[in-house]
Amino acid sequence: QSEPIRVLVTGAAGQIAYTLLYRIAKGDVFGKDQPIILILLDIPPMLPVLDGVVMELQDCALPLLREIIPTDKIEVGFKDIDAAILVGSMPRKEGMEKKDLLKANVAIFKTQGAALDKYAKKTVQVVVVGNPANTNCLIALKFAPSIPKENFSCLTRLDHNRACSQVAMHCGVSSDKVKNVIIWGNHYSTQYPDVHHAIVNTHGCELGAYKAVKNDAWLHGDFILTVQQRGAAVIKARKLSSAMSAANAVCDHIKDIWFGTKEGEFISMGVYAAGNSYGIPEDLIYSFPVQIKNKRWKVVDGMSTNDFSRAKMNATAAELMEERDAALDFLT
Ligand code: NAI
Repeated sequence: QSEPIRVLVTGAAGQIAYTLLYRIAKGDVFGKDQPIILILLDIPPMLPVLDGVVMELQDCALPLLREIIPTDKIEVGFKDIDAAILVGSMPRKEGMEKKDLLKANVAIFKTQGAALDKYAKKTVQVVVVGNPANTNCLIALKFAPSIPKENFSCLTRLDHNRACSQVAMHCGVSSDKVKNVIIWGNHYSTQYPDVHHAIVNTHGCELGAYKAVKNDAWLHGDFILTVQQRGAAVIKARKLSSAMSAANAVCDHIKDIWFGTKEGEFISMGVYAAGNSYGIPEDLIYSFPVQIKNKRWKVVDGMSTNDFSRAKMNATAAELMEERDAALDFLT
């Protein structure tokens, strides 16, 4: 068996982590032969809760889990890590302005970016989940100049999975029969779920999603709205935000980084936009269709975009630019 890898999860006392930590420790993400040292970082008031999480992880008796390190200290949390899963962020509280929320998160991700730069392995893979995920990821990247920008990504896989599932349900097939949906742009509500290049396998026959669904009005209307507003719908129903599905998406996202995407398939993730061929402004973390090999992602180029798509891709870029500029203002 190989040497254990050090995996940091921030927000480790929270609800996404509660599912995520189990899945990682059990081997669902880094492979069934990869021993793990799990580092659980949260803020000081949550340390007693972390103790409970540690006890439960111990009680799962998982053979791959070699050590668990609960901490509220950045220098312990980020030391020599191979993977950083940044889930913890400041939640929106009653009456809190969007601006104040952004300010608090800029401060958190500036500190964590600097900690990555100082303490983590230079090969560390960084995945940002905490919202606003795209902008938080951009801030962390800017404060970790010694780590390649390609090692940073933010989670839009939950939106991607939601889009796959909606199309699969509409066509009456299982979700693995739908591939190559795209989430463009932000994880937030201007995101553009695009199925112009998606393929549905029905009864052994591969069809473009528009042909398989046979309902352009739905694809241009309710489908997009359902995916964009799914997070809010879950909160309304559960009185809590998506946690099981978010943790599952984090697992899918990191597994694809570690082991690569399937031949002929692509997935969506928020990555640094420099050098993209879609005319998206460069200094953004923007969700694109990507293929991954040897832990390196590559944006899939040359996908045709019609006027409908173009307008939506630009609108989500505009939202991200505005958020980036507001975030950068807090740093000056
Ligand atoms: P939660 O509120 O249950 O847990 C968050 C945890 O983060 C708390 O334990 C809190 O103490 C901790 N935390 C706050 N600041 C921290 C810091 N500076 N360092 C370390 N830990 C810190 O929230 P939940 O449900 O687990 O969600 C976490 C984040 O993920 C939220 O920002 C949520 O909006 C986001 N999210 C993102 C999704 C995506 O697709 N990108 C999907 C679902 C949620």
